[in-house]
Amino acid sequence: MRFLTGLQPSGQLHIGNYFGAIKPAVELQEKGEAFYFIANYHAMTTMESAAKLKENTISLAVDFLACGLDPKKAVLFSQSAVPEVNELAWILSTVCPMGLLERCHSYKDKVAKGFSPSHALFAYPALMAADILLYNSDAVPVGKDQKQHLEVTRDLAAKINDTFGADIFKLPEAIISEVTAVVPGLDGQKMSKSYGNTLPIFGEEKPLRKLINKKIVTDATPLEAPKPTEGSIILAIYKLFASEEQYKAMIEAHQRGGVGYGQFKKDVFEAYWEYFRAAREKREWILANPDYVTTVLTDGANRAREEAAKTMSRLREAVGLIWH
Ligand code: ADP
Ligand code: TRP
Repeated sequence: MRFLTGLQPSGQLHIGNYFGAIKPAVELQEKGEAFYFIANYHAMTTMESAAKLKENTISLAVDFLACGLDPKKAVLFSQSAVPEVNELAWILSTVCPMGLLERCHSYKDKVAKGFSPSHALFAYPALMAADILLYNSDAVPVGKDQKQHLEVTRDLAAKINDTFGADIFKLPEAIISEVTAVVPGLDGQKMSKSYGNTLPIFGEEKPLRKLINKKIVTDATPLEAPKPTEGSIILAIYKLFASEEQYKAMIEAHQRGGVGYGQFKKDVFEAYWEYFRAAREKREWILANPDYVTTVLTDGANRAREEAAKTMSRLREAVGLIWH
């Protein structure tokens, strides 16, 4: 079984990314062959700074490794290290009906958020299909918002098979975890960098402590009074990091009264800080050894290119691009 997924290098990772994408990917590396890439071509659809793109690409690799990606088990590479993906995207585009792309939500959503409506943003699902098909992936772990892109991928794979030969592509499955609930942001909406309500995975202790203390929204129940547990953002975030007993104890303290929100927020910080301790230490080591990341990405790119070359030589032959 080969798993593949891509993450856009679009800024500092937050705990929503961790529980929704990074942690599941790290767990899957134990269950099959894992191909994980940093989707830097995709990020270009919404980012114009070369320096930022570079910085985000490397920091995503660092953070992914710090969070447990094991390069002995998973192949980690940057999308642009395998430029064949663009050739595949082109070939897929030739069988991609306009209507299929027009129905995709992501384009409209991004334009509504103010990103410029470029051709690349519109054609993005064809590139994503190429990402998946280039590596013969069986299963693709993604968030719910990406489900439609997997349907596009299967449609395009089937079209190529119908047109040029039945066995060219496997039809990959989406793995959409229903278990990973949406991680709430500090204001209670879905955590997302576009809402400015995120808790980063990594950062300096003091500002993070302050962030939790100042930004988690609570009601105005006085210290002595019992506090509502239903809809509590503090409890929802604490649950991600605390042991079962710790979580129960905080619920009881809410119900009893006599403990203020300030104390609960301190408890949230402590649990969060402890939860990422090992990852933080690993990250420090990686940052002190920059060659490590370069080596991992270079080895990953070599392995990915091998796979890409096999697919492309099969496909080029099948569609008639090789005439001699
Ligand atoms: P953001 O909403 O901050 O822009 P992205 O859309 O870049 O995050 O998401 C990257 C990955 O993280 C996706 O797989 C997505 O499903 C996951 N993810 C993002 N936010 C959350 C969240 N609040 N809860 C669970 N998973 C999330
Ligand atoms: N579109 C995905 C996102 O925005 C990232 C991505 C690009 C991806 N190519 C992929 C995910 C291929 C899975 C497979 O989150």
